[in-house]
Amino acid sequence: MTVQSDRAMLRVLSGEAVWPPPAWMMRQAGRYLPEYRATRATAGSFLDLCYTPDFAVEVTLQPIRRFGFDAAILFSDILVVPHALGQDVRFVEGEGPRLDAMGDRAAFERLREAGDPAILSHLAPVFETVTRLRAELPNETTLLGFCGAPWTVASYMIGGRGTPDLAPSRALAAADPALVEALIDRLVTVQTAYLIRQFEAGADAVQIFESHAGVLPEDPEGGDPLARWSLRPIARMIEGIRAKVPGAKIIVFARGSGLDGHTRVVPETGADAVGVDWAVDLAALRGRIPAATVTQGNLHPETLIEGGAALDAAVDAIRAAAEGRPHVFNLGHGITPQTPIAHVERMLARLRG
Ligand code: CP3
Repeated sequence: MTVQSDRAMLRVLSGEAVWPPPAWMMRQAGRYLPEYRATRATAGSFLDLCYTPDFAVEVTLQPIRRFGFDAAILFSDILVVPHALGQDVRFVEGEGPRLDAMGDRAAFERLREAGDPAILSHLAPVFETVTRLRAELPNETTLLGFCGAPWTVASYMIGGRGTPDLAPSRALAAADPALVEALIDRLVTVQTAYLIRQFEAGADAVQIFESHAGVLPEDPEGGDPLARWSLRPIARMIEGIRAKVPGAKIIVFARGSGLDGHTRVVPETGADAVGVDWAVDLAALRGRIPAATVTQGNLHPETLIEGGAALDAAVDAIRAAAEGRPHVFNLGHGITPQTPIAHVERMLARLRG
């Protein structure tokens, strides 16, 4: 695997404690960059940007050119999958995504069946973007694909939008758990195939985004909601991917799952690395997981906005918690549009210095 050994992030995902740690940022292609805003303005809608390889390749490469990150993440969105299943998806300027809420069995039955070839053909531009990116990226840059975890995607499909308490999804899971389970099963099958195709197109590793791990249906029988709705469906995806792509490198980011939840991600899903959100203390987590476990994260995006001495101290704290361990430097959630570019430069200089 000599090709892989040129890519520092892949070496970390294989368990090597590379120092200083390789770095990338969630949402690194985004509105804090003037060049992103310029491409976004010519591309038309947000979905046009995702589905046009010329544009998607360009915005993926922008943060690599500017900052020399160790990994590029495919530019797309977790909601292209509901779109491929036949649900209406729109991105409303300044408000975020809007879907036609899937409130009942009839709406579920209107979705495409898991094996419908129209799903992956709808997503063909994404695979083309991946292939072109692998050809255009510097050899040492790791290329990441991604998708949303089944519960997070299902909660957008059911609620029609992101809400802090996910009330519609939790209510449907209480009223008709079999329906929500059927939706999750379909997402497991479809997204397993989706990530396999991303690997076949040239992705070096993938990240599964469980952004809603902190808001799960309650289980009146004292069960284990994190396992039932999040970790087990993700584990099934990982097993399915590795059956076709042996040794596939996979990161799971279970935002909001707390210190306990973060300790469970690798053992219960089979992931290669746990993405750590900003609410978890990295040193405390490292104290509770095996030394060989690979971590990624977890600078608070607001500290990156603040900059200055607070930023330096936060980078130093992550370095101290990660030193001697396999770690990928990242934020603890996506970078926000108001972040000064100079602070990203300062963060990287401090990390690498
Ligand atoms: O990280 C990257 O640079 C790769 C691209 C990427 C996007 N979305 C682009 C995007 C990735 C990996 C995502 C994942 C995603 N999308 C998640 C999981 C991660 C997380 O943030 O928790 C979620 C929940 C979504 C759904 C989504 N897409 C929301 C809630 C929003 C609106 C928020 C916002 O910032 O406006 C989007 C839109 C979106 N996806 C933008 C980008 C760059 C901003 C839209 C724009 O440019 O107008």
